[in-house]
Amino acid sequence: MGFQSSHAFEPFRIKSVEPLHFTSRAQRTAALIEAGYNPFRLTAEQVLIDLLTDSGTSAMSAAQWGAMYVGDEAYAGSASFLKFERVAREITGFKHILPVHQGRAAERILFGTVCKPGDVIPSNSHFDTTRANIEARGAEALDLLIPEGRSPSADHPFKGNVDLERLEATILERGVERIPLCMITITNNAGGGQPVSMANIRAVSELCHRHGIPLFLDACRFAENAWLIKRREAPYADRSPREIAQEMFSYADGCTFSAKKDGLANIGGFLAMRDDAWAQACTDQLILSEGFTTYGGLAGYDMEAIALGLQEVLDEKYLEDRIASVAELGNRLLEAGVPIVRPTGGHAVYVDAGAILSHVPPAEYPAWAFSVKLYQEAGIRSVEIGSVAFGRRHPDGTEEPAPTELVRLAIPRRVYTRNHLAYVADAVIYVAERARAIGGMRITYQPAAMRHFTARFAWLRPEDEEEATGAAEADSALRELVDRPR
Ligand code: F0G
Repeated sequence: MGFQSSHAFEPFRIKSVEPLHFTSRAQRTAALIEAGYNPFRLTAEQVLIDLLTDSGTSAMSAAQWGAMYVGDEAYAGSASFLKFERVAREITGFKHILPVHQGRAAERILFGTVCKPGDVIPSNSHFDTTRANIEARGAEALDLLIPEGRSPSADHPFKGNVDLERLEATILERGVERIPLCMITITNNAGGGQPVSMANIRAVSELCHRHGIPLFLDACRFAENAWLIKRREAPYADRSPREIAQEMFSYADGCTFSAKKDGLANIGGFLAMRDDAWAQACTDQLILSEGFTTYGGLAGYDMEAIALGLQEVLDEKYLEDRIASVAELGNRLLEAGVPIVRPTGGHAVYVDAGAILSHVPPAEYPAWAFSVKLYQEAGIRSVEIGSVAFGRRHPDGTEEPAPTELVRLAIPRRVYTRNHLAYVADAVIYVAERARAIGGMRITYQPAAMRHFTARFAWLRPEDEEEATGAAEADSALRELVDRPR
């Protein structure tokens, strides 16, 4: 058998480092007040460990940085595009690869081309930009997730699966002519980063194709979905992530893809499809807003980075470490009794703040409050996936809460080590243990749409406001002390 170690470790070594930004609790409290208690409004230098998103935050490899140097910046027919196109085609099998600057550009072009007012686009769960792009066309974005997917504590290996019965009922009720395409988000970001099984993708594909409806994948995290299929779906245990990914794409007619996730790049994406007529119509839109067909809003060097990233992300050692380290963080929290979405999925751990702060009703934004406290106590930036981001506001000002109140700890790829994640676990446990002392929040300013990015908040209980102001004042005293000319 030979030498074996029980210590898991990152399958890379570090060539280039960045310092972390340490702050005091008082400084963080002052920063929160300045930011209107909105983590999106914090500056990156106010954050110690940034788990706001796994999007565009990956560390690139030395090979990617090297490839960028030879990027071909030709306006038309760039060699870097041809490389990017070849790799994307090999993995997806799609004939037409349209480069875009990021995922939502692919969404806007696709729905702007094939969707009309009154249409409905079913999915397991649409991500917020996907939903917004569909609704901007006057169409309906319909989430048809299996019931287990909506319950954080329900154990199911593929909580991202589409509810086939409801999909069939929707097709029969709404009519084929109202459904230009069906989508599946892999992995399901809005629903806990949960994977979709190959059996489900295949079944959705068969159902859609029986009715002549094309199936598109939102493939942002396709490699993580492939790995979770390998680990959780028996027939795939011995297949490579690349083969699994190729099979997933084989059931679809096209995809939208943000290279900021499983492209291991800081920017970029593509829209891909088989159909020539749709591709022609989408290409016209691409040229109108993104750029010519061989760069689509990207530099040649970006396409070099993505072409390599798409290959590196399918490496078994990489995926094994990625998914295992996310699971380790989840397991630490579970062992300490902190409820999370179970089992852990691909890119993030989702803390069930609704369950932890059961004394705070959804209308007082418990997940937002938890996320604010996690930053205040430990300098960790997370993101709310609850009623601020996903609640529905009616024209009369009343609000419908989101189905769950989660705090997402999204793990950037190849950026933080297990020691960083152990610190994160300690901090989440610390805040969860003191949950009873955390009160609700109210919104003091909000824009008409996508409010989570820019809204401002205040604590509901006067004592929370007072505590914060006191700490912030202590900070300005601290600052005076530091800034005083000597
Ligand atoms: N689809 C999914 C499933 C996503 O998670 C995202 C982005 C997009 C589409 C849009 O891609 O940002 O490149 O325009 N998710 C990021 C996140 C923002 O934090 O989860 P984009």
